[in-house]
Formats: sequence, C-alpha cells, structure tokens
Amino acid sequence: MSNYNIAVIAGDGIGPEVIAEGIKVLKKIEEIDDRISFNFTSFPWGCEYYVNHGEMMPSDGIEKLKEFDAIYLGAVGYPGVPDHISLWDLLLKIRKEFDQYVNIRPIKLLNGVPSIITDVKKEQIDMLFIRENSEGEYAGAGEWLFKGKPEEVVLQTGVFSRKGTERIIRYAFETARKLNKSLTSISKGNALNYSMVFWDQVFEEVAKEYPDVETYSYLVDAASMFMIKQPERFEVVVTSNLFGDILTDLGAALAGGLGLAAGANINPERTFPSMFEPIHGSAPDITGQGIANPLAAIWSASQLIEFLGYEEWQEKILQAIDTLLVDKTCLTPDMGGSATTSEVGDEIVSILLSAIKQKTLEKM
Ligand code: NAD
Ligand code: IPM
Ligand code: MN
Repeated sequence: MSNYNIAVIAGDGIGPEVIAEGIKVLKKIEEIDDRISFNFTSFPWGCEYYVNHGEMMPSDGIEKLKEFDAIYLGAVGYPGVPDHISLWDLLLKIRKEFDQYVNIRPIKLLNGVPSIITDVKKEQIDMLFIRENSEGEYAGAGEWLFKGKPEEVVLQTGVFSRKGTERIIRYAFETARKLNKSLTSISKGNALNYSMVFWDQVFEEVAKEYPDVETYSYLVDAASMFMIKQPERFEVVVTSNLFGDILTDLGAALAGGLGLAAGANINPERTFPSMFEPIHGSAPDITGQGIANPLAAIWSASQLIEFLGYEEWQEKILQAIDTLLVDKTCLTPDMGGSATTSEVGDEIVSILLSAIKQKTLEKM
C-alpha cells in the first residue's frame, strides 16, 4: 500500500466548505482501494490567520509544505485583507517557491450541463488550457514611484524569460502530442511588442520540433471571440499567465460556471509538491450559507489522484460528476438546484459506490 501525505490549506470564505467535500471523496476512495492511503494535514493559513498573526502563513510555511506529496487548496482572499497581500503571501508564494510553472485547466462541457451558448454540443467545448504559472504579467516586477505625488508613476513589468517561455510551450506540445490534439497559442504580439513578439517566436521555434502537432496562433482579443462563437477551434491551448487567468474564467462560464472549474498547479519535475485547487475564489457573497458548489473542488481532487498515478480514479470521479449533472436532482443553486454543498459531496460518494458495485456485479 502507498501512503500519501497531503497538505490541506482550506483557506478563506467557501474554501473550507468545498474542500471538505473533496476530502470526503478522497477518503471514500482510500476506504475502497487498498492500494491507497492518505494522511491529511490541515494548515489554518489564510486571511483569518493573517488577522491574528500578521502573516498569511508562518515564515517556515514553505519549508513545512516541502515534505508533502501534494497540496490541496480551497481559496485565498477575503474582504478586510488587501488581495495583493493575501494572494502574494500565500497562493502565489506557493506557486512560485515550488516552481509550479504549469497551470492545467480543463474547460470541458460535461453531459447534462447547459452551456450559456445555445445550440452547442458537448463535443464542441473540450479544451485543455495550459497557463504559464510562474512569471509573465504576474512576475511581481515593477515600481511605484513618487507615491502620492502629482508625478506618481507605476510600472508593472511583464517578465518572459527564455527558460520560462520555452518550458511551458514545450510542455504544451508534449501534452498535445500525447493526446493527439491540436495546439493553439494565444498571445498579443501586435500591441505587446516585446513580450508577445518573443512568445510567438518561441512558439514557432519549438513547433519545429513537433511537426506532427497541428498548431494555431491567435491574438487574445480574437481568441476570446472564437471561444464563444466557435469553441471547437480550441483543443490544447497554451498562453501566458494573465491571458490564461482571464480566459479560463471565460471558459468556466462556457462549461457550467465557476463552481465546476478545476485547476492543477504542477511542478512537472516533481522536485516540489504540486497544488490542486478549484479556479474560483473565496466567494464572500455566499460564504457560510452551505450552498457553494463543491464540484470544482472535487474535480481538482480528481486531478490530484491522477497526479499520484491513479488515472482510473480520476476518470471515475469525473464520471460521477457527469452522472450527477445528468440526473439534476442534487445540484447547488448556482446550477439551478437547491442542494447544499455537503449533499452534493454525499451524492458524488454514493454515485461512486454504486458505479463500483455495478462493475463488481458485471464481473461476477
Ligand atoms: P470568486 O470566484 O470568489 O467569485 C465570483 C462569483 O462566482 C461570485 O458570485 C461567487 O459567488 C461565484 N462562485 C465562485 N465559486 C463558486 C462556487 N464554488 N459555487 C457557487 N458560486 C461560486 O471571485 P471574486 O469574487 O472575484 O473574488 C473573491 C476573493 O477570492 C478575492 O479575494 C479574490 O482575490 C480571491 N480569489 C482567489 C482565488 C484563489 O484562491 N485561487 C481565485 C480567484 C479569486
Ligand atoms: C486564479 C486566481 C489567481 C490568479 C489570483 C487569485 C492571484 O485568479 O488562480 O485564477 O490569477 O492566478
Ligand atoms: Mn483567476
């Protein structure tokens, strides 16, 4: 049996509410599958911790997390603590310190989910976004000069290193090749005359090593339009940190909403732990009501278990989500239902169990 140490940072707002359901699912899997055992360690870091301790996590927080096989995170940020502090001192710090330079965000229309686009078939919305996750527009480089004076100037510098750009584009090509899908690069070389001209150049260079992968390249403005009008154009997509952030919220809206959108922050070399989280935030507007949709967090848990080497469990969880969505009797209000967060988690567990029972019966 393999034992996996999972660090849990449930975080702020609805973070703890949705993470509890993901853990419920993982614990059920541990119970069923005698190859797997989890050891969950919770860290109470986040905005409340900041209010009490003056920091988002202790100074040895990163050192503590290093030991783990994976990190499972809810959401970070809450009114009362400036967002740029809460995010930079916890979520972004982990992504950067652990060199989680790949952010994988599936945008996939599951069965039973109404899309906001009418007349769309589920096959038309099946994208895999690979967002650069370590530098670019979110490098945190800049200056604030002459603060508060009339001549005040603020600089926010995009940082695109050759190493950083090449590695994310190469990762995307490898993924597209493995999945036998096309790869689309989204950039903005017409206006961002250094960073994105460079990005496009690197994309073309690396493409030469993958003649078997069909490629497309769009400007981000046109890409946003195509994502809505012709989503089938996009299969595997590679883009910068900022564009990937924005376009995956747009993608989430196409595929059932933020309550369903999952993301994995990967350190492909496995030198450091990778981190799995829903892409939504702490949703202060619905916190504490027990109505947050836990499906994004549960989908992230499926990415986590796949990363640990159990692809079959990833598929089973996704199928359970699919079944729940088709059935429609147990959905949270964001999806038009009236179920609570924990009812949805319970229902996923029960669908998983009956699917497994069914399989066992078929084998007999
Ligand atoms: P948000 O994603 O928290 O919420 C946007 C809207 O989507 C809200 O109306 C919310 O109720 C709804 N929503 C989000 N997740 C949902 C779910 N699981 N079920 C049902 N409805 C859901 O974005 P925001 O309001 O812009 O940000 C709130 C806070 O979260 C801010 O502090 C922001 O910085 C932070 N944030 C954190 C992360 C993260 O930790 N990964 C991501 C985005 C935003
Ligand atoms: C996300 C979030 C974060 C990001 C914020 C909270 C820093 O929006 O994961 O999409 O932009 O990376
Ligand atoms: Mn975002």
